[in-house]
Amino acid sequence: MSYIKYEQNGFVGVLTIDREKALNALNSEVLADLDAALDAIDLDSTRCLIITGAGQKSFVAGADIGEMSTLTKAEGEAFGKKGNDVFRKIETLPIPVIAAVNGFALGGGCELSLSCDIRLAAENAVFGQPETGLGITPGFGGTQRLARTINVGKAKEMIYAGTKVKAPEALSLGLVSAVYPAEELMPAAMKLAERISANAPIAVRACKKAINDGLQVNMDEAIVIEEKLFGSCFETEDQKNGMTAFVEKRKPEPFVN
Ligand code: HXC
Repeated sequence: MSYIKYEQNGFVGVLTIDREKALNALNSEVLADLDAALDAIDLDSTRCLIITGAGQKSFVAGADIGEMSTLTKAEGEAFGKKGNDVFRKIETLPIPVIAAVNGFALGGGCELSLSCDIRLAAENAVFGQPETGLGITPGFGGTQRLARTINVGKAKEMIYAGTKVKAPEALSLGLVSAVYPAEELMPAAMKLAERISANAPIAVRACKKAINDGLQVNMDEAIVIEEKLFGSCFETEDQKNGMTAFVEKRKPEPFVN
């Protein structure tokens, strides 16, 4: 049995972390299943991925505290690496990834959402990094990605004090792009994923790479990354299709991979 459910809806993949009785907490098995599910995505036919949690209450309530409770230093490091490797795979997946945060996004759950490109939240979403209250640091990238996503002082407050942030505040912090009533979250995530999928897929992938890679280097190098990716688009059918349609004052044909 896998802790991951995967559905394909046209160009959109929907991946659900399915360990509802533990509020979708990430133990080693869930992480291994998530890793395998990511590897299994057909990137030729999938243009956008949505990640969500099973049930109405929780996106992911963190890494599994029971499993972590007996770890040694070396095992702790290895457990952190396991999560980091999977989350980095999400972050560097060639296609955009939307986190549909349907409840608790605590610890590793908040960190999972941060490895996604875009976060949409249900009204009951709660974000937090409560690790210092458990005697640990965030270990799946939280100290790095939260501070790169929102104001550094607020990230530090959330991490040092374990301050939890509900959906409306998450919106004002820019941690999420939008907040929806619970039942509207997945339809809204699908709609956004379909809008992304309707655009030229090679160009969308190039944008993800340009933004992510560019943010890691200085502006002179970043601009070169953009130039190369921009140039590469001119070898695609999609560029000819999109621009010819504009010049001829008509809609483009559907874009291809
Ligand atoms: C293991 C968890 C869990 C977790 C919830 N559960 N969170 N199990 N690890 N992170 C389990 C509970 O033990 C319980 O199982 C069931 O899910 C339902 O949870 P309750 O606590 O009964 O629900 P509720 O009272 O509604 O409270 C919800 C909650 C609370 C506020 C989210 O569960 C909670 O505080 N969870 C821990 C949140 C947390 O600290 N996350 C960060 C973890 S550290 P039973 O069997 O009793 O029904 C982390 C580090 C990441 O993520 C980096 C690692 C390297």
